[in-house]
Amino acid sequence: MAMNTKKLFIVMVGLPARGKSTIAIKLKENLLKDDIKARIFNNGDLRRRLMRGNTSYSEFYNPKNREGVSLRDKIALINMERAKKYLGGKGTVAILDATNVSMRRREKVTSLLKDHPLLFIECINNDEAILEASIRRKIILPEFQHLTKEMALRSFEQRIRYYDSIYSPLEKGRNYVRLDSLNNKILKESLHDTLPFYDRLRDFLVTDSVKNLFLIRHGETYFNLENRIGGDSGLTKTGKSQAVSLGLYFRKRNIPVIFTSDKKRTLETAEPIRDLQKSCMIIPLGEFNEIDSGVCECMSYEEIRDKMPQVYESRKQGKYNYVYPGGEGYVTMQERIDRGIKKALYLSGNAGNIMIVGHRAVNRMILANFLYRRREDVPYIYIPQDKFYHIIATQDRKLFQLKRY
Ligand code: F6P
Repeated sequence: MAMNTKKLFIVMVGLPARGKSTIAIKLKENLLKDDIKARIFNNGDLRRRLMRGNTSYSEFYNPKNREGVSLRDKIALINMERAKKYLGGKGTVAILDATNVSMRRREKVTSLLKDHPLLFIECINNDEAILEASIRRKIILPEFQHLTKEMALRSFEQRIRYYDSIYSPLEKGRNYVRLDSLNNKILKESLHDTLPFYDRLRDFLVTDSVKNLFLIRHGETYFNLENRIGGDSGLTKTGKSQAVSLGLYFRKRNIPVIFTSDKKRTLETAEPIRDLQKSCMIIPLGEFNEIDSGVCECMSYEEIRDKMPQVYESRKQGKYNYVYPGGEGYVTMQERIDRGIKKALYLSGNAGNIMIVGHRAVNRMILANFLYRRREDVPYIYIPQDKFYHIIATQDRKLFQLKRY
């Protein structure tokens, strides 16, 4: 039978916690927006629905556990049949979301899914810190609830090692893309067939999609009252009531994660927001710590002007490029802020709402990612404490709003 080239199978490949499901959902959502019928066939979801017993324990994934292998093969087969049927009917794009890391499994997929072209997408991310944070996000799932956090973490890591032992990265095959899923960067692209929708799929793969980002500055601190910079001061009474107002404002929105810095002032702002959510976790990221002002840490701007006039003057002359002695400048923060944004987006998966509680300089740098500003103007972006920025940056929509809460 001739191949129907108007429809497409997409097969995800990659170890657990590499962002496969996030990418699969992103592709599906964007295709649907373009009126292209797409559906995801996720082996993990099907396993949880079909298997009565608990399948979260790591030995279930041991390639030497015959029963586990055969059960997982069965699940994979059911999904392949369903995907085939979907494309045989009204569906246009079927996305098979599973690890598919072994040659054996991929050969099976290739031999069964022959009626339409097939594109493999391999998700790669070996950043240890992000993986750990990502696993910590996964182990809050109900299937891990009978274990302590540490046990669940170890069990998930063991599951990854089992998959790793049978992992063969994509090197051959008719059509495949190897994607750095943290940086949305295509590492290798090898296409032998003309694939339907490939131009847009490729574009979806390489662009960030920020549905709603709420960028908040921490509430008022004791240091703010004295115009002191840096340090690790706590919130004043006003700061605390700002945090509660934020919590009330966002109560009706579902905020699954709040990213903060490691500093007290951002954590104290995030906690009341979290407390008014049904299910929300705070993830502190060192990347979002405020600019390190080196020898000037904890001084007020007036003290700097009086005691270190060169520092004060040089910074005034070129604020973006000025680096505090023993500390940072906006220019040297760039790399870690970019990394923090990547981390936050990765860890948020497909969340409809992302929240970051940051600092003045940090929020300016984050904003600069979404808003055109000349570099020299970035250190002057207005970052109030009684308002927040709401940002939308998706393929087809851009919004930028400063809102009072
Ligand atoms: O709230 C004060 C603060 O966050 C300091 O900790 C930091 O050094 C400063 O703002 C950054 O703003 P600017 O670059 O304008 O000094």
